[in-house]
Amino acid sequence: MHQNPHKTIHQPVLLDEVLSYLDPKKGERYLDLTAGYGGHAQLILEKTQNYKESYLVDRDNFAIKELEKTFDGTGVNLIKKDYLGASESLKQANQKFDLILADLGVSSPHLNEVNRGFSFNNNGPLDMRMDQEQKMSAWNIVNETSFEELANLLWKYGEEPKSRQIARLITLNRPVSTTEELAALAKKAWPGHSKTHPATRTFQAVRIAVNNELDQLSEALPVWLDLLAPAGRLAIISFHSLEDRIVKQYFISESGDNYDSRLTLLTRHPVSPKPQEQAHNPRSRSAKLRVVAAK
Ligand SMILES: C[S@@+](CC[C@H](N)C(=O)[O-])C[C@H]1O[C@@H](n2cnc3c(N)ncnc32)[C@H](O)[C@@H]1O
Repeated sequence: MHQNPHKTIHQPVLLDEVLSYLDPKKGERYLDLTAGYGGHAQLILEKTQNYKESYLVDRDNFAIKELEKTFDGTGVNLIKKDYLGASESLKQANQKFDLILADLGVSSPHLNEVNRGFSFNNNGPLDMRMDQEQKMSAWNIVNETSFEELANLLWKYGEEPKSRQIARLITLNRPVSTTEELAALAKKAWPGHSKTHPATRTFQAVRIAVNNELDQLSEALPVWLDLLAPAGRLAIISFHSLEDRIVKQYFISESGDNYDSRLTLLTRHPVSPKPQEQAHNPRSRSAKLRVVAAK
């Protein structure tokens, strides 16, 4: 297994596999849509050595500050924006890239930093915003959404079988102010033993809603295709089945032997981390990598 030689506060997943499928070569232009703490970016840019024509995007202030330190003096371009907005600006500027990576979802600092309110394992405020400048937080979703909307959201984004029961418990117990309170309500709907924490689906649903994660992904995919240079490679790592489904269906719809298909699938099936990586980094367990190349 390729150990990340650089010390970062977020352990990048599927590093070997990303390097092997993207196959970065000297001079290639790289776009990292979710650069985070730069784990993937550092290794890829060391191979391309093309910092000046490469872009690192993240919508989290803290990640951008860390990226500024890590890449200081290299000339790489940093963009603090959501990846849809950033991709649209790059397209308008007629930029093309040989290598594009989207490593979706949250970073370790999101989960470990109590005040960010992403984790049911810590007691923090109900926040869950990736972009600290965004107005709407988990508090607004949990406390200001109607019962119907909340139940739908838990069902759609969390695939929560007890969505209505949990939505009812939430509306009856408002205001719900902390991650611990929200987790306790989900637990109330699932008494007894369960393999995963009973709040997992509720937290996933609220987080997806706060950060508009699925719409960002669906709308950005066609823009990413437009940003690919001929023979350019696009790799996407997803962390739950809702994201993976969107990526899979889009890649299939744009590939094949039709005269106007734009992509070649480089991964027929999604690539999962090896058992060794899963043991070493439990967060990697749900990761799935899909890669395509532009025709
Ligand atoms: C899994 S981490 C990426 C880690 C990175 N590959 C590394 O090696 O450090 C995901 C990052 O994507 C960012 N992110 C998630 N969705 C985003 C979006 N729609 N636009 C911009 N950044 C996003 C998060 O803030 C987080 O820093």
